[in-house]
Amino acid sequence: MAPTEMVNAQLIEALRETRNRTLALVEDLSDAQLIGPRLQIVNPLRWEVGHIAWFQEYWVLRQLGDQPPILQQGDLLYDSARVAHDTRWELPLLARDKTLAYMERVLERVIDQAGDGSRSPKDADGYDLNYFLNLVLLHEQMHDEAIAYTRQTLSYPTPALAVGNETKPAGQNAASSPAGADLTSDAEIPGGIFTLGSNCDHGFTFDNELLAHDIEIPALAISKTAVSNGDFKQFVEDRGYGRSELWSTPGWQWRTSAKAEHPVYWQREGSDRWLRRSFDEWVALGEGLPVVHVNWYEADAYCRWAGRRLPTEVEWELAASGVPTVDGHGLTTNKRRYPWGDDSPTAARANLDWNKFEYVPVDSLPDSDSAFGCRQMIGNVWEWTASDFKPYPGFVAGPYKEYSEPWFGKSQGASWRMLGDTFALSFITATEISTRPIDAMYGRASGPARCKVSENEDWHSHSGSAGFPPWKSHYGASLGVDSETPWQSRLAITDV
Ligand SMILES: [Fe+2]
Repeated sequence: MAPTEMVNAQLIEALRETRNRTLALVEDLSDAQLIGPRLQIVNPLRWEVGHIAWFQEYWVLRQLGDQPPILQQGDLLYDSARVAHDTRWELPLLARDKTLAYMERVLERVIDQAGDGSRSPKDADGYDLNYFLNLVLLHEQMHDEAIAYTRQTLSYPTPALAVGNETKPAGQNAASSPAGADLTSDAEIPGGIFTLGSNCDHGFTFDNELLAHDIEIPALAISKTAVSNGDFKQFVEDRGYGRSELWSTPGWQWRTSAKAEHPVYWQREGSDRWLRRSFDEWVALGEGLPVVHVNWYEADAYCRWAGRRLPTEVEWELAASGVPTVDGHGLTTNKRRYPWGDDSPTAARANLDWNKFEYVPVDSLPDSDSAFGCRQMIGNVWEWTASDFKPYPGFVAGPYKEYSEPWFGKSQGASWRMLGDTFALSFITATEISTRPIDAMYGRASGPARCKVSENEDWHSHSGSAGFPPWKSHYGASLGVDSETPWQSRLAITDV
């Protein structure tokens, strides 16, 4: 079997598995739940699943395969670039059964096309079938994650995902750190030249990871784990939400207008116990689990309280994928495909595909450690950075032009998609991991903070609002530190 055919066969299998997941995420919901309330941070789910199929049809069958559209009005219903978000609740969408039939019909035609070894079409720019199969697969997985966080937002029941899952709830089957491993100290990372972005040598790469480019970065220290609920609870109980000096100016404006006193899905029970809402259930906080569903402002304020700051994108990516020299005092030119090396993810290395049913404790999965000892740099949760989302030097939009370019300069954050091509995996990591920067504007995005502080760095002394790091004057603003230095963050945009 030729490599291309083998890859396509794997993609077909992944498309089927992902579709099963998509269907499992919505099949238990009522017709009313599949529409739901009009909120800026979610989509009506009956629209969302129809859009998944439309996207597959558009790119693989119509654009690449030159086939006529299956639906006469499909573009007017399901093209996210055309259909304004706030109108999606009122569209004459396909009925539930017709939506499912459309989804199945498209997928089978896509698989037929992928399995037809006699044809290897390319578009005018040279993008081939393999590229578009990857694109529609990852797009569906991103929307699966969006469906999951929509279920959290709307207090729908926990999805009943059984495919490939283990049998015990989170925290009970996740290997923790070996005795003696010190996760409380920072990982010390030497300075040097680091290649940010993807060099495209592992297959599919999103346009916003290109082009890889070298950046000189000073030595830094970064926490080995994400911030836990227990960590964040201390900030909350130290009146962190009531002290304006800990917040940026726009962050404080958000906090006061939202009347936020703690993370949105937390609830105090009694004097010293906290609960968190997991879908439609209130459960124990789980102090060892990562803090989630905090927006960028909250993560930033926490860092200021802790005397730390969020890492920039390049710092975070270096911590995840860089490799030190043998003596540990410098950086090699090597970059790992995954934090732990080149081997594929396993359940012991990353909490992906909902394989633990829940988040896992921040100190678990020691096999996930990066070369510098940073844990869980892939999976479990998304993480905030200090960086805005901007193009790399030489950026050229891919075929799906709405994926990155419209969001440059409008969003920030980052997470474990930094290795570009490595995420031919479900984007469902643990539960409802919201990735959309727009969510953060409304204060209800997710992601823990992995706070960082550099030696010899005293950002408290820099000018800026309330001691804000100088490169981050306010949310969504251009950084303006050094226009030659592309401090960025990578985000998967799920609403396009
Ligand atoms: Fe989409």
